[in-house]
Amino acid sequence: MEIDPTPLAMRDNYKLMTGLIVPRPIAWVSTLSENGQVNLAPFSAFTFVSHKPPMLAISIGRRGTELKDTGNNILRTGEFVVNIGNLALLEPLHLSSAHYPSDESEVEALGLETAPSSLVAPPRLADAPASLECRLNFSRPFGDEENYLMVGEVLRFHIKDHLVNAGKVETRDLDPVARLGGPKYATLGEIVIMPPALVVERVE
Ligand SMILES: Cc1cc2nc3c(=O)[nH]c(=O)nc-3n(C[C@H](O)[C@H](O)[C@H](O)COP(=O)(O)O)c2cc1C
Repeated sequence: MEIDPTPLAMRDNYKLMTGLIVPRPIAWVSTLSENGQVNLAPFSAFTFVSHKPPMLAISIGRRGTELKDTGNNILRTGEFVVNIGNLALLEPLHLSSAHYPSDESEVEALGLETAPSSLVAPPRLADAPASLECRLNFSRPFGDEENYLMVGEVLRFHIKDHLVNAGKVETRDLDPVARLGGPKYATLGEIVIMPPALVVERVE
């Protein structure tokens, strides 16, 4: 099957993109609203874009014509925290995607504990296995819907001690969750270890 995305409705392109770009890691983002409430929401359009300094990107869409609260908060304050969820936290992670009024805190509504961040104002989630304090480095809207790409520089990593061994993260113990589509999530499953890929010399 060959599909031209040009005549497709936004929703149909969304279904193809989110069905094919899988599984997606989830940035569980805490920001501060205008009245100082802690806003929390998951974003699976999430990847890293640089190692030194460490930088990551999330893409934030619109609700109707309005940018989502997380987007507005990041553009206004220039700061956010990407918390990494795990299977134990999947229920509050999923529930935090519900549409709460801008001045209501998902963190309070869901009874989640926060811990102060070291360098940015938005707090991190105390029970998250890892949290990355970020300062906005770059932002730009893309496409007809004006989804906002937000690139943040990671100023601090917070990782639970037992998850780090010789500078490497113990992925199995992190027990991350990934998004497929709608209510469907994936867990780590089988880890397949491949032999190193060899450098192939080109013979002219
Ligand atoms: C697992 C998961 C991943 C999501 N990923 C995104 C995403 O990448 N971009 C986006 O705009 N919305 C995404 N959403 C929807 C937002 O979380 C949702 O619209 C939320 O209400 C936004 O909250 P806010 O207005 O407080 O920012 C996702 C929802 C879930 C459950």
